[in-house]
Amino acid sequence: MTDIVATEGLTKRYGTRTVVEDLNLRIPEGCVYGFLGPNGSGKSTTMKMLLSLIQPTSGEVQVLGQPMTRGTRRQLLAGIGSLIESPPGYAHLTGSENMRIVQRLLGLNRQQIDFAVATVRMQNQMDKKVREYSLGMKQRLGIAMALARQPQLLILDEPTNGLDPAGIDEIRTLLRRLANDGVTVMVSSHLLGEIDKTANMLGILSQGQMIFQGTREQLMAAPTPEPPSPS
Ligand SMILES: Nc1ncnc2c1ncn2[C@@H]1O[C@H](COP(=O)(O)OP(=O)(O)OP(=O)(O)O)[C@@H](O)[C@H]1O
Ligand SMILES: [Mg+2]
Repeated sequence: MTDIVATEGLTKRYGTRTVVEDLNLRIPEGCVYGFLGPNGSGKSTTMKMLLSLIQPTSGEVQVLGQPMTRGTRRQLLAGIGSLIESPPGYAHLTGSENMRIVQRLLGLNRQQIDFAVATVRMQNQMDKKVREYSLGMKQRLGIAMALARQPQLLILDEPTNGLDPAGIDEIRTLLRRLANDGVTVMVSSHLLGEIDKTANMLGILSQGQMIFQGTREQLMAAPTPEPPSPS
């Protein structure tokens, strides 16, 4: 099985503080990869490094078998859709207007936009202003924006944050549907229960270190992981 994302020794330090340490991520193509860890464990920092939004202190990122470098960055990022930290979009514009901006920026056609909106089931909400959306609607619009370019890899940072159980369930179903359609999904959460039924691969971070990476079955069979002692 090919890894769509692989990192070698990925590390981020701020001053003397190491916030992501020596990560060797392996995300097999076609899976839903659940990236778990408590607040501050380094999930967003890792995802931002995968997307070249911040520069690693050391280590390498490979996407689709190619190292992410200045020369390959543009082409590799074209195949990745992402939603990092908070839902994007201009609050004073409607869903449609926001999607039109994405369409223009990425040079997409109408069908791609309509398909992304239909995938997140937002067709009936597109004439409303984003500031009138519920949190779940904002998250879904954010996912539609990430999906519009028809990425091979989707990186979603806590898309279920703040959603009620029905909203969480809806996102889970959506992620499973996307994976069935061949999109590899990396999704972070601080709650195992929110993604364990969706994810077929899990990576667990604690204080910037990967304390487990493998399938859900392997996790259940593993001895209880010890968090690294505070330094
Ligand atoms: N620009 C920065 N400068 C200094 N420290 C930072 C910076 N960005 C993040 N950190 C620190 O890095 C650590 C990891 O942060 P990160 O946002 O990656 O965690 P997270 O796992 O996404 O947490 P959460 O679940 O709260 O979103 C935190 O201790 C944070 O304070
Ligand atoms: Mg975060």
